[in-house]
Amino acid sequence: MNKAKRQAVIAGNWKMNKTRPEAKALIEELKPLVKDADCGVVICVPYTNLETALEAVKGSNIKVGAENCHWAKSGAFTGEISADMLAEMGVEYVVIGHSERRQYFGETDQTVNKRVRAALDAGLRVILCVGELLEQREQGITEEICAMQTKVALGGVTKEELSRIIIAYEPVWAIGTGKTATAEQADEVNGFIRGVVAKLYGEEAAQALTVQYGGSMNAKNAEELLGKEHVDGGLIGGASLKAEDFSVIVKAASR
Ligand code: PGA
Repeated sequence: MNKAKRQAVIAGNWKMNKTRPEAKALIEELKPLVKDADCGVVICVPYTNLETALEAVKGSNIKVGAENCHWAKSGAFTGEISADMLAEMGVEYVVIGHSERRQYFGETDQTVNKRVRAALDAGLRVILCVGELLEQREQGITEEICAMQTKVALGGVTKEELSRIIIAYEPVWAIGTGKTATAEQADEVNGFIRGVVAKLYGEEAAQALTVQYGGSMNAKNAEELLGKEHVDGGLIGGASLKAEDFSVIVKAASR
């Protein structure tokens, strides 16, 4: 299998942005712009926007995701949301292990693994984020970091379940900074991650895996990044908040 046979997926990560009326307006603007997409289109939105988003995307090709979930089914976890709660609403995707969660909310490879497990058990699809810090890249340990994060996160995940996982390579130094990895850097690490997955699940499963790039992907640089063999889509932060920009990226992935 090669790139042409893998599903490209463009996912927006809205982070902590948009009230409900703003969310509805953005989705209404986006729908006609991406209706002919020849790739998966997902928007991952704040919990408070999930119901609004699910209603607004009805009858369209846009899927809805959450930005995190807890690993327990229920219980005394004030402020948390379980994977079952998301699944019951009709949410299909969940982002797990985003670097902002790792950086600001004490997320570790182990808790990422527990959340991945819970999401899969609830029937969700997972966008699993991995990526190195700037000092780790400078130390030359990008591959070690990405391999470790990938392997720990996938602990206990079966080959069959892997088909519900997308890996997003997001170098932390490129997120929200306007500093994009070059297309070559993105391709190199995405390919490396595919190799790690091949060792765990075999070549065929690895070739079928969607590996996104994320980190300042925008309407201008998307085409070059998405043209690379191992870049099967993108996880888009800032540019997903503008319908026009997001749709240009979706079109670049549809070629
Ligand atoms: P960015 O965010 O596109 O704003 O850099 C990407 C992400 O955090 O997923």
